[in-house]
Amino acid sequence: MRKKILAANWKMNLLRNEALELYRQFSQFTDNQNVQIYSSALYLTELAQYNSLTIGAQNFYFENAGAFTGEISLNQLRSCNVNHVLIGHSERRQLFAETDEILRKKVDAAIENGFNLIFCCGEPLDIRQSENHVEYVVNQLELALFQVPSEKWDQIAIAYEPIWAIGTGMTATSEQAEEMHREIRTAISYKFGNELAEKVSILYGGSCNEKNASELFACENVDGGLIGGASLKSESFHEILKALYELH
Ligand code: 13P
Repeated sequence: MRKKILAANWKMNLLRNEALELYRQFSQFTDNQNVQIYSSALYLTELAQYNSLTIGAQNFYFENAGAFTGEISLNQLRSCNVNHVLIGHSERRQLFAETDEILRKKVDAAIENGFNLIFCCGEPLDIRQSENHVEYVVNQLELALFQVPSEKWDQIAIAYEPIWAIGTGMTATSEQAEEMHREIRTAISYKFGNELAEKVSILYGGSCNEKNASELFACENVDGGLIGGASLKSESFHEILKALYELH
């Protein structure tokens, strides 16, 4: 059975005390290691000490060490007991100019260093409107993820996050989400075989909240969520978690 993963992407939100308090609230309703929190790098060391939920980094640099002012390496993350990372979020791609080439290096570095990663993909609105969304997303995977050899895929989860749905309140319909998740799984199957494809968790992200989570998670190929705004409220995140585990 595929892992059901619920990941909170706190982005650049929460002051230190607020982050610690929200973590405390989450850990009151779950100790599930498949609940993952991607917090600001500043709080990772402290959060990782609590050890009840999985803590991950929103960003890192692919080199091991050296003259890269302002960056954080995987070695440094590991030294803080962090071994989960997000790669390829559309905000990193768009606002911080992370290209497919950079993302490919990040994926390779994370895999080599034994990290677990969530690889994010998703199309902008104009690509969706021109109905090239499947091709666009599969291309993102081919350019930066599909070089990973099959024996390393247990380190990988994928998050489909249509850019037009992120922070907009405009969620993908369950049909739109299921179509893309199915196509992603088909692409993995085509390249690596059906057995591997069936094991990869594919999460949905983009205005997922306590109201629409049940419908999205009911889709056969949706194995969890990557939650932004609704992960900043303990009650909302709890409801989303319940929706995931009640349904599958
Ligand atoms: P929202 O849930 O705020 O739309 O953000 C989704 C996201 O980008 C998670 O990585």
